[in-house]
Amino acid sequence: MEFSIKQGNPEKLRSGCVLVGVFEGGKLSDAAQALDKPSQHYISDIIARGDMTGKAASTLLLHKIPNVPSERVLLLGLGKPAELDSRQYRDCVRAAMRALQATSAKDALLYLAELPVKGRDGAWCINQAVLAAYETAYRFDRLKSKPEKNKKALTKIQFGLLSSKPSAALENALTQAVAISQGVALAKDLGNLPGNICTPTYLAEQALTLAKAHKSIKTSILEEKDMKKLGMGSLLSVTQGSNEPAKLITMEYHGADKKHKPVVLVGKGITFDSGGISLKPGGEMDEMKYDMCGAASVLGTMQAIAEMGLKLNVVGIIPSSDNMPSGTASKPGDIVTSMSGQTIEILNTDAEGRLVLCDALTYAARFEPDTVIDIATLTGACIIALGHVASGLFSNQDKLAQELLAAGEQTQDKAWHMPLWEEYQSQLDSNFADMQNIGGRPAGSVTAACFLSRFTKDYRWAHLDIAGTAWKSGKDKGATGRPVPLLTQYLINRVAGAK
Ligand code: BES
Ligand code: MN
Ligand code: ZN
Repeated sequence: MEFSIKQGNPEKLRSGCVLVGVFEGGKLSDAAQALDKPSQHYISDIIARGDMTGKAASTLLLHKIPNVPSERVLLLGLGKPAELDSRQYRDCVRAAMRALQATSAKDALLYLAELPVKGRDGAWCINQAVLAAYETAYRFDRLKSKPEKNKKALTKIQFGLLSSKPSAALENALTQAVAISQGVALAKDLGNLPGNICTPTYLAEQALTLAKAHKSIKTSILEEKDMKKLGMGSLLSVTQGSNEPAKLITMEYHGADKKHKPVVLVGKGITFDSGGISLKPGGEMDEMKYDMCGAASVLGTMQAIAEMGLKLNVVGIIPSSDNMPSGTASKPGDIVTSMSGQTIEILNTDAEGRLVLCDALTYAARFEPDTVIDIATLTGACIIALGHVASGLFSNQDKLAQELLAAGEQTQDKAWHMPLWEEYQSQLDSNFADMQNIGGRPAGSVTAACFLSRFTKDYRWAHLDIAGTAWKSGKDKGATGRPVPLLTQYLINRVAGAK
């Protein structure tokens, strides 16, 4: 898809389809008004007849309107003007993109950037529209023997501006939104691939491919023997039941001077989580192919920032393994020694995410990080707490938590701040080792974060539990690409803040 921003009025510019908004209650957006006059009130007549009420996210496709050069006009209902907030705008834009993609228009001219969305500017409106365009166009059909051909695909989208020239800020927002969208698509693809294709080895290959495509990225892969030398007994205990070799993937992105300490992103890369000897029940077990969505979000974010040429240093670390039951698998009661030297009693082999992450988090210290953020489909308890709306956010520094929350709010890839209080730590007490790997049912996502916090004392750290946000179940099952928007926006904000 190709995007651009252009100044000009809808009654002057030609396109396959021009999109203008109308409000509930009959008010026309400025762009709709501009079309209404030369067309002898074609649009206001339709509204007067009641065929377009302006209800939020409703659409009406019109053809060959007199004195309008575009072949089609798509009316987009925006709801009541006073209610046009971020969420409503997003719903409307998604509906618009779906309607556009159902036409055979090859190019479209969208008057979205100047809509009066509460608390948001044109850059934000463009950002969200681009994300929605990619989201609604996304298909994962590469594993179908006869993928549906989409001949009509919309390939060119222009954002029309009535009143001003495209500013540098708008152009910048557009470029960034395209990079974020492509990062999201990469994360979705990796998440959607099944466990027999997307193995730790496959993820390592993807990281190497990323380094080939971008000079600014250097990738290195540690094998099990290397991890053994480093003393990663916890990570290795997870892979010991599987025939797939585990990998520790490191991608170093250099966008700033070497003296700038990097942000390190650590993504859980369990390519299939059967639960191990603490085997999961069979229903929906297929969804545990998504247990590498943290890793996928790191790859997607690295790709996005490399595309943008963002001026900072970022390291992506992916501990990747399968979690399988077998004669060589670790057993409940086993005690392992992590790279940090702390010993762990494995009471449940299904709490494997924290076991791979803790060694990766210890390893992260080598990069002398400014900040470390891990991203993991860590606990079912987080879905119970926050559903599929917000990712769970934990941090050992409130300022970092606020920055991540703000990035989530900005991109509407939301997170919610959860407690990491000392009072919860005792749930991890073990009679036989320094800690056990589960803390019982109460506050399951908090005790998982508490476990990780024991390995992150030396740096600023945050943990995102994306168990509820990384994919959708049911009829529209599929990876969401979250939290690539949140992470990328956080990194963009850091560069902007540093100026
Ligand atoms: N990958 C799962 C978490 C998960 C479960 C994500 C369901 C999305 C949907 C994780 O490895 C796991 O199994 N966690 C256990 C922890 C428990 C044994 C303490 C869980 O949440 O049940
Ligand atoms: Mn598990
Ligand atoms: Zn898991």
